[in-house]
Amino acid sequence: MDITFAKLKSPIPQIAIRPLKFCDAQNVYKNVKDKAISRYTIQIPYPYHKADALKFIKYSEKTRREKSAYIFGVELKDNKQVIGIVSLSKIDKKNKNCELGYWLGKKYWSKGIASAAVKLVLDFGFNKSNLHRVYSRVFASNTASLRVLEKNKFLLEGILFESVWRNGIWHNMMTYGLLKDDFNRKLIIDRKQKPD
Ligand SMILES: CC(C)(COP(=O)(O)OP(=O)(O)OC[C@H]1O[C@@H](n2cnc3c(N)ncnc32)[C@H](O)[C@@H]1OP(=O)(O)O)[C@@H](O)C(=O)NCCC(=O)NCCS
Repeated sequence: MDITFAKLKSPIPQIAIRPLKFCDAQNVYKNVKDKAISRYTIQIPYPYHKADALKFIKYSEKTRREKSAYIFGVELKDNKQVIGIVSLSKIDKKNKNCELGYWLGKKYWSKGIASAAVKLVLDFGFNKSNLHRVYSRVFASNTASLRVLEKNKFLLEGILFESVWRNGIWHNMMTYGLLKDDFNRKLIIDRKQKPD
């Protein structure tokens, strides 16, 4: 494993992010198979099978080698289990931008874990991979996800009206963006408030 991954420090002490391993397949499957996860994501199939988790882990290795995406498991430090994913995908090397994605197993929601994991992956993207801009598209009705972005200082850039057709209706997507300098300004403020 690349040493830079191991060095990432979480503001929530009980989690870390790290590349996925094949032995994570069962935990990925167990946490992602809930309809509540696929409901607000575009790529995750429902129903979800264990084979989908294995395919996804293989894909995460391939894209990391190619540097076209960085997909991390969100790991609970006490038992090393993966409870969710944070990812930087669609990496545009020339323009140094990419798309942020994330999900967590339902029983871990509303504990601040996704916000902390997003902060970690942004630190990696901006300060280890030298990205300039990260963006994310969220279903307008996904209040928890909008909050995760806002807590990480993403700015609303627009609404993509009726841009996704799902379950028989059109959905509005909110598009958010964050620049490296704005992220790092927030990091400095956070560190002053909460020295680690
Ligand atoms: C989106 C998701 C990752 C959030 O994970 P999480 O660990 O619960 O997020 P956090 O606890 O860090 O932050 C969630 C925030 O939303 C708030 N929130 C949660 N549900 C809410 C609701 N229904 N209405 C208003 N606010 C809500 C929480 O109170 C919290 O805000 P706070 O810290 O100011 O109190 C999780 O819900 C999930 O996996 N959803 C399914 C997949 C998904 O939507 N992925 C994102 C695709 S863009």
